[in-house]
Amino acid sequence: MTLNSLTGDTVNSAARVVRGIDELRAALAPARREGQTIGLVPTMGFLHEGHVSLLRAARADCDLVVMSLFVNPTQFGPNEDLDRYPRDEERDLRLASEAGTDIIFAPDVAELYPDGAATAVEVTGGLTSVLDGDPERRGPAHFRGVTTIVAKLFNIVGPDVAYFGQKDAQQAAVIKRMVRDLDFPVRVEVMPIVREEDGLAMSSRNVYLEPADRIRAVALSRALAAAEQQALALDSLQAGLDAARIELAAAAIEPEYLEARDAETLEPVEGLTGRPILIAVAARVGGARLIDNVVIEPLGD
Ligand code: PAF
Repeated sequence: MTLNSLTGDTVNSAARVVRGIDELRAALAPARREGQTIGLVPTMGFLHEGHVSLLRAARADCDLVVMSLFVNPTQFGPNEDLDRYPRDEERDLRLASEAGTDIIFAPDVAELYPDGAATAVEVTGGLTSVLDGDPERRGPAHFRGVTTIVAKLFNIVGPDVAYFGQKDAQQAAVIKRMVRDLDFPVRVEVMPIVREEDGLAMSSRNVYLEPADRIRAVALSRALAAAEQQALALDSLQAGLDAARIELAAAAIEPEYLEARDAETLEPVEGLTGRPILIAVAARVGGARLIDNVVIEPLGD
């Protein structure tokens, strides 16, 4: 019996750690034969409560829960933080086990990208060329790296359901499109953003924040709350975006972007359209590049 250090729950068994693709397929075969449902939670590790919420959802929905733990090099640009991305496998294994994970797939880079690997999966067009996909920012190559690794994980694990966080709203929209376009037989569940008590969206990269920047970083969630509140109160998306800019400026944060887009297609929107609208923000705060978002749901009649 172990104690979950985040929730205080007691749980029984440690997850099985699997490093190889063949070993994982063999481990999943009996469950598949018996018609059990398999849930997959893809992660890059350094787990926080956002990841734990995905694992718990998978545990509640599925017979078998697989978490992948792999810092995927193909989704990092040359000037990004691949080398210093935070890692703590021992802690991840403990937290994942405590959240009820059955199998942790933690391969090394050569297992997933053998020498000569030359194939990528790419969602083209407006979903991957805006916001983080703008070539001036992370660019479409970031999403090509994400869709390639997620497609590989889907092929390796064969999940019935896969769980992603709404914090990476654009990633979730891109993955949903890939699943639709390539007919992956998997249901994609997108779970709500999990926030610190003061509103900061949980992220493995929050560890890069120095104490003073950690305080400033709360302005992102304050800005999004102000945007939603003002947009709805004044029936004006522009008023919402203006309110958000004021909050960011008060914390001396210059956003990389602060944009309103259709939550599904990511097309730009001018006003409240009667469809869910994503307001997304990205900003560098000290040593961390942070993203956050809110979805304004259409008001009922
Ligand atoms: O969201 C993440 O942590 C990663 O982009 C993912 C989905 C695990 C793919 O590497």
